Amino acid sequence: MPKHLITFYPGAKKISVDEGENLLQAAMEAGIHINASCGGSGTCGKCRVHLLNGITDSPKHPKLTPLEYDQGDRLACLTTIRGDIDIEIPIESQVDKSVLEIKGDREAHQYLLSPQDIYQLVQDWEVDPPVFKKSVQLAPPTLKDNVSDLTRLTNALERQHDIRGISPDFRVIMKLSRILRESEWNVTATLVLTRKGYKLINVEPGDATHQNYSIVLDIGTTTVSGQILDLNSCVVVACPDGQCDGSTLFALAEASDYNAQISYGEDVITRIVYSQRHGGLKKLQEVVVSTINKIIQELLEMSRIDRSLISHMVIAGNTTMTQILLGLDPKYIREVPYVPTANFIPPVRAVHLGINVDDHVHAYIFPMVASYVGGDIVAGILGSGIFQREPLTLYMDIGTNGEIVLGNKDWLASVSCSAGPAFEGAGIKFGMRATRGAIEEVNINHRTYEPMILTIGRARPIGICGSGLIDTVAALLGTGMIDPKGKFRRDLRTGRVRMGPDGYEYVLAKKEETAIHEDIALTEIDIENLIRTKAAIYAGCKVLLDSVGLSFNDLERMIIAGGFGRHLDLEKAILIGLLPEIDIDKFIFVGNGSLLGTRLLSFSKNLLKEAERIALMMTNLELSNHPAFMNEFVAAMFLPHTDSSAFPLVTERLQNDQCKLQN
Ligand code: FES
Repeated sequence: MPKHLITFYPGAKKISVDEGENLLQAAMEAGIHINASCGGSGTCGKCRVHLLNGITDSPKHPKLTPLEYDQGDRLACLTTIRGDIDIEIPIESQVDKSVLEIKGDREAHQYLLSPQDIYQLVQDWEVDPPVFKKSVQLAPPTLKDNVSDLTRLTNALERQHDIRGISPDFRVIMKLSRILRESEWNVTATLVLTRKGYKLINVEPGDATHQNYSIVLDIGTTTVSGQILDLNSCVVVACPDGQCDGSTLFALAEASDYNAQISYGEDVITRIVYSQRHGGLKKLQEVVVSTINKIIQELLEMSRIDRSLISHMVIAGNTTMTQILLGLDPKYIREVPYVPTANFIPPVRAVHLGINVDDHVHAYIFPMVASYVGGDIVAGILGSGIFQREPLTLYMDIGTNGEIVLGNKDWLASVSCSAGPAFEGAGIKFGMRATRGAIEEVNINHRTYEPMILTIGRARPIGICGSGLIDTVAALLGTGMIDPKGKFRRDLRTGRVRMGPDGYEYVLAKKEETAIHEDIALTEIDIENLIRTKAAIYAGCKVLLDSVGLSFNDLERMIIAGGFGRHLDLEKAILIGLLPEIDIDKFIFVGNGSLLGTRLLSFSKNLLKEAERIALMMTNLELSNHPAFMNEFVAAMFLPHTDSSAFPLVTERLQNDQCKLQN
């Protein structure tokens, strides 16, 4: 993709961007402030800039007179970059030269791994799916050769494909005689590798080997995501109608939806509580299966693959989600000493769970470690290759819960901290999940305190998602509008900070600019909730490292997983003390690590053993009764931390920013 150079004046700050990049987004990446309060939806008219040189695609707009447009005025949020350009930023930004000197925070996105890089994380895996189809041509029986139909088939599989030790599913036996004769002894056998060897799960007439698909699912507390995979070709195939983004290695199609259990509670604890009601567990099981069936339907429609061609499923989820899906009472997960029913689940026939696939399809359930470290984390460790490599790595998956794993090829240790779903919108007045209309990027002018916000889908703002929350608190801290305890300065001369119904708050978008027709603000209570969440995560990491006599400085890599990680701005997350201050090059984003692991396992049967090995080698540290956890948690209830020596560069930056503002 061609690159273009944008030069912002005054200051001549340059940034190189891809062809087709949005100008407001580019300014955000360069750390240039442009007032933008409708999230980039093109309605507020505040993001006006002046095009000095170069070519852009910018529509005319009622906020610009024809003369202004002809003279070069443009709305940054509606401007697409088509060549090298020089841009003059408006007067209200010119007074804020200090901002121009701050490094562009979005450079952190350069550390996102490409799908190809992610694929390289796991070494020595070969394409050899645990579920496969084999075509066999049988000799019809005679009086001299009248062994049973089943023996005839298993002998042929052994002779023609060197597959031994086959145990048949009874359902195959029930239809075997008919299919063999109707197909004139030319059939396709589907086999799945289990701990006990190969299981014959299906027999079809003729040669049906050319189409063999698998569905993988990540069952999250908030979101369920699925992909459909081609087990034969293992190549990226775009959806016929282009609905797939093609960025997911080997996936034919991908679909996500909210876990319908959300109506029964936001987090695992409330779900467990609900499951104890009369009929509660059955209800929760039914609704998550309804979400799964919806996703499967969507995947089949997107990829135009027939349901009968699905041969296998691989499912990973946290322990509570997994137990509820299996209909296992999760009661004891919540009670001391926090015991799950089973960490290793034998393959389950998917139809027994209510999943709408053919009855021969078996679901492989990722093994779990403990009540709060589930199969999703084991899948993430598998997919990110930590278990094979020397470097000391911290793996972090921040979702409704915060799960953290430390280790390398020789050992793995984990903790889980009840981070609370603040990053998914809960406990935040205008909090929302990262969907269209969510404020996802925020910058605040150091002198005018005016916001520059970008929303997902460039729609009118509806609320604030996790990344917007972190951006806002980082910006409030960076501009000195809040103190390290998260309290607003009371002497700010701006209408953006005011006493609201819930105490002091900062108005990110005014009601005439929002889609909800009320002001969207971040309150002190919201900030306190964010501080609690980040303190729990940081403290969890610290206790885990301390428990093995290591420190953040010993880390050679830090892997951030989860949908939340995709939108996370590293420097801002470090600024507020959510992440440790370590070399930014050590961070790697893997996206949905759980789905990555399920995908790899679908393609490679040698990873079945590895998944079990990971679950067995991981030592879980229980934080709820850990003496050091509360001390670390309290110490982290500060922005960035009470121990400023743990954040030397952030402390220096904040001090410098304050000096600049005072001059
Ligand atoms: Fe561009 Fe509002 S019109 S941000």
